[in-house]
Amino acid sequence: MTTFRDHTILVTGAASGLGRLMSRTMAAEGGRLVLWDVDAAGLQATRTELGASGASVATYVCDLSDRAAIAAVAARTLADCGPIDILVNNAGVVSGKTLLDESDRDIERTFAVNALALFWTTRAFLPAMLERDRGHIVTIASAAGLVGTSKLVDYCASKHAAVGFDESLRLELRRARSHVLTTVVCPFYISTGMFEGVRTRVPWLLPILTPEYAVARICNGIRNDHRRIIMPRFVALTYLARLMPVPLFDGVMEFLGVTRSMDEFRGRALSTTDRRAASSR
Ligand SMILES: NC(=O)c1ccc[n+]([C@@H]2O[C@H](COP(=O)([O-])OP(=O)(O)OC[C@H]3O[C@@H](n4cnc5c(N)ncnc54)[C@H](OP(=O)(O)O)[C@@H]3O)[C@@H](O)[C@H]2O)c1
Repeated sequence: MTTFRDHTILVTGAASGLGRLMSRTMAAEGGRLVLWDVDAAGLQATRTELGASGASVATYVCDLSDRAAIAAVAARTLADCGPIDILVNNAGVVSGKTLLDESDRDIERTFAVNALALFWTTRAFLPAMLERDRGHIVTIASAAGLVGTSKLVDYCASKHAAVGFDESLRLELRRARSHVLTTVVCPFYISTGMFEGVRTRVPWLLPILTPEYAVARICNGIRNDHRRIIMPRFVALTYLARLMPVPLFDGVMEFLGVTRSMDEFRGRALSTTDRRAASSR
């Protein structure tokens, strides 16, 4: 069992969406929250909200696409807050364009935030966990880490990397007989705004999840040391579907509407990174 009470919990991407909601639940259960995000205003709003209910909250603005920034903020975090008990790698970005419509920068940013940042944060906080032989590393990946789809080539590839990161790290820790745990989370679309406009063709099998439901499942999974959280459960059938010949697999994805789910994607109006890029033009 992993408890939030009296544990120091670092959540990345805590300025909005799942990160803010997870922080709310963990703070309500007595966790000491350390929140990172690139969005300073959103981070301050999360801090104000959690602080108002008496929670212990520290916030750090950090651009997770920047390895040097992660190292610097991690050093400050360790100095200010001590070792991290639960690391929730949650921050993520999506471009939602076809491979040829994306810019090189879009692709690099997707991999930097969704995949490489996992390495840099975990390498910063794992040593203290190993020293104490306890800790929990949570990777918020995606169903897109189990199945690829159109207009998400970089996103799916980065989330497949996130799933591989978790599995390899889990086995590496097992090999070292460590008690440090890992959990990987693979949700279908969630109505946080990140994927505004996406569609599901079979909502009874593949519903667009509410952030509240997703966060309840994630927090419950962390508490109970579940190593893999897939939601909705239908998505787990992907593992069986992989046994099909490729043309049949592709036909099933087409029939379920997965390949067309991004056709009307709009996404968030503008992320902090987009706003910065627009103002520097
Ligand atoms: N929503 C879904 O349908 C869905 C489904 C499956 C998995 N997921 C995954 O769940 C996680 C949370 O998603 P969400 O829906 O809660 O999205 P969200 O509401 O957009 O939250 C993501 C947070 O990460 C921040 N962020 C983005 N780039 C960053 C960077 N370079 N450095 C630091 N922080 C950065 C964002 O700030 P800005 O807004 O300023 O960019 C935002 O506050 C992501 O990893 C996502 O891939 C989401």
